[in-house]
Amino acid sequence: MKQPHNLKVNIPSKTAYSYDIIIGEELLSKADDLVKRYSKAQKFLIVTNETIARLYKDSLNIENAIWLVLKDGEEYKNFETLKQMIDACVENRLERQDCLIAFGGGVIGDMTGFAAASYMRGIDFIQIPTTLLAQVDSSVGGKVAINHEHGKNLIGAFYQPKVVIIDTNVLKTLDLRQLKTGLAEVLKYAFIEKSCGYEKDFGLYEFLKQNRQKIFALDSAVVSELIYMCCTLKACVVSKDETEKGLRAILNLGHTFAHTIENLTNYTVYTHGEAVATGMKMAFKLSLLKTFIDDEYYNKACELIDEYDLILPMQDFDKEKFYDEMFLDKKAQGGKVRFVLPKRLYEVEITSDVTKEQVFGVL
Ligand code: NAD
Ligand code: GLY
Repeated sequence: MKQPHNLKVNIPSKTAYSYDIIIGEELLSKADDLVKRYSKAQKFLIVTNETIARLYKDSLNIENAIWLVLKDGEEYKNFETLKQMIDACVENRLERQDCLIAFGGGVIGDMTGFAAASYMRGIDFIQIPTTLLAQVDSSVGGKVAINHEHGKNLIGAFYQPKVVIIDTNVLKTLDLRQLKTGLAEVLKYAFIEKSCGYEKDFGLYEFLKQNRQKIFALDSAVVSELIYMCCTLKACVVSKDETEKGLRAILNLGHTFAHTIENLTNYTVYTHGEAVATGMKMAFKLSLLKTFIDDEYYNKACELIDEYDLILPMQDFDKEKFYDEMFLDKKAQGGKVRFVLPKRLYEVEITSDVTKEQVFGVL
């Protein structure tokens, strides 16, 4: 078994805070030692859902931890569940130095982080992400939230974890559709790699081209390497722009279109990754129309997305309705929609300079 990867997220805000991301195999069995290295808590409250508890409650070894097992599903990412989490903190008399552990996918990670940010004005929390999406994206960077009936992730905060512990073994029980939803975010990093400002060139596009079979077979060395590269790129972006004043928005490549697709279908037809993969193709098409990129790069990008088979057939959306819906996105600013558009090979630019005709041209 290879040594785990260890990398740092540096947040140069007021507190000059930094934290580690540890990526490796069989880390659940070593969790007791790891969490105690990063937290001085007397009490650990592990927040998870019924699916993950059934699969992994006996594997996550943290002595004397208290468990809170929630219902599984995005529909539970709400005020009621937040109350359940805070109630559990109160009933178990968690104090300021104690710690919440988010053990699950992005839903559990986002909600637990928000509960940690709110309880006693902020207690420690640790991320142990169990989906590929959570391992390469949501567990890193401190965006935590719950949904409101009028919007997804509408109530939230920027609140960083103490450590992120990524055990690649847990991906083996993920179904293929969930794996692909994470892979859509992975491909996103390939297309923004050169804009992230990391000192080294990973060549993520080529890595993805060469290792597709091993990635789908969950070859542990390849998957660890892949997660390491994605987390490094995300850490680099977040360290330059924690609260999304500018650069961090590049992580939303394809997401302007994706959120619209998800909103118009009430989050019930496509997974987030399927919407993002479609949204990335639309962003590439828009860049082509604006002559930001040439046919060669456009085809190269679509080829990778197709090879990974990330997209379900899209329904025919009414163009006017689609366009109007885009302006309702919470990322729209001053009535303008911001697009992250491929500009050169593996580079993107953020722009609002897009006409209605151009948007119609990609739908
Ligand atoms: P999820 O948390 O709902 O997990 C997907 C499904 O997989 C669930 O049924 C879950 O129980 C199951 N599951 C989790 N781990 C498993 C495992 N190892 N084996 C088998 N089943 C497992 O979905 P997700 O895609 O991980 O996360 C989506 C959420 O993340 C959304 O709420 C989204 O808003 C949020 N998100 C947040 C950020 C951020 O930066 N904070 C970024 C992207 C997405
Ligand atoms: N998932 C996008 C971000 O963390 O900013």
